[in-house]
Amino acid sequence: MVFFRTKDIALILQKTNKMELKKTLGAMDLVLLGIGCIIGTGIFVLTGVAAAKYAGPGIVLSFVLSGLACCFAGLAYAELAAMVPVAGSAYTFAYVSLGELVAFIVGWALVCEYVVGAATVAVGWSGYVVGLLKSVGIVFPVAWTSVPADGGVLNGPAILIVVCITCLLVLGTRESATLNKVLVVIKVACVAIFLFLATSHVNPANWSPFLPFGLGGIASGAAIVFFSYVGFDAVSTAAEECKNPNRDLPIGIIGSLVVCTILYIAVAAVLTGIVPYSSLNNSEPVAFALRAIGMNFGSAVVAIGAICGITTVLLVFMYAQTRVFLAMARDGMLPKKFVKIHPKYGTPHIITVITGIVVCILSGLLPINIIAQLCNMGTLFAFCMVSLGVLVLRKTQPEVVRPFKCPAVGLVATLGVLFCGYLITNLPVDTFIFFGVWCVVGLAVYFGYSRHHSEFVARKK
Ligand code: ALA
Repeated sequence: MVFFRTKDIALILQKTNKMELKKTLGAMDLVLLGIGCIIGTGIFVLTGVAAAKYAGPGIVLSFVLSGLACCFAGLAYAELAAMVPVAGSAYTFAYVSLGELVAFIVGWALVCEYVVGAATVAVGWSGYVVGLLKSVGIVFPVAWTSVPADGGVLNGPAILIVVCITCLLVLGTRESATLNKVLVVIKVACVAIFLFLATSHVNPANWSPFLPFGLGGIASGAAIVFFSYVGFDAVSTAAEECKNPNRDLPIGIIGSLVVCTILYIAVAAVLTGIVPYSSLNNSEPVAFALRAIGMNFGSAVVAIGAICGITTVLLVFMYAQTRVFLAMARDGMLPKKFVKIHPKYGTPHIITVITGIVVCILSGLLPINIIAQLCNMGTLFAFCMVSLGVLVLRKTQPEVVRPFKCPAVGLVATLGVLFCGYLITNLPVDTFIFFGVWCVVGLAVYFGYSRHHSEFVARKK
């Protein structure tokens, strides 16, 4: 059946060896790429909102729940990423395990994750920059810093940062990875500064009641703060540019996830310990909480760290998006001209620019809550498929070499599907409607174009 045709892993690897992307990334680059993509708008903005509206101080447990879902899915990702180290991430994994149609839908969901996620992050960046400048007396007109839904015309700073990042990505991966390293160090330092300054001000009375919204609040909170973890999977999209993917990819994925989970739980506990959780529903909760305990200078430092943190996330999201496009276009799922690699810079410049334009439009015009939830939906769907794909491949292709094997795969991958599926059920109804529409558009592209241009069809001619 045409929809279930799968790609041959050996062929993919053979073909990839002839591909043009430069191999410049090592294990440490990947861990930093992961952290660069993970710590951002989620911890700096959404933690406060989720604590105030859904989980209370129990937001710490929401982070544990989301972190567990990501850990299970992350182990599945690591096995597949080491086994099929090519650009395309979950899309490619689904193509070798679940067949062409599912692969296309997963690829389409990844477009949703990265493009919509990048737009969300750009809006968060804009909010922090505008807030910081305002605190030193530089005030921009609301019309040019807010989207129409918030009474503005467009979000100018968000568009500006997307244009800058697009230029950087066109110029080359190594340059981007170097900038990423510097920014990651700054943001982790700022998280550490927050913990250092705030821990001694924790008042345990603020943790009571611990679950003001009941046990259900933990799950609702987890479905929101899940955004904080989105991005570790982007590491696998860099597979083709790794010097030693078999060893480095699992280290990159699991390493970055573990570091971030520890930092998140610490930040969430301290944040809800220094001020009442109900006061955290604002656009800069971490900086706000520091000001509330009299640390104005520390607050400004952390705000700068947040801006750096959010910048790196944007960089990695847009990078990952171009690689997913690359993989899909190469397979004939999207027009081949997208695949063209720049002769001098060695980067897929055409799809990079197209991605930049779409992210500019979304971030310039749409409100943050809608795009953040849609991003979570696309990501959770892809995570479910990857966890399922590992199980299928263990059955259908047990002989393929697996440089990294997911431990207790039956249990871990099943838990990956269940945890991610459970988080999906905790998203608002609107998100299901948006994602449904997104999938219908995707199916129209598949049946109208991709199915007839897929590599399988091309080979028969
Ligand atoms: N995890 C990323 C963030 O929190 C998407 O910004």
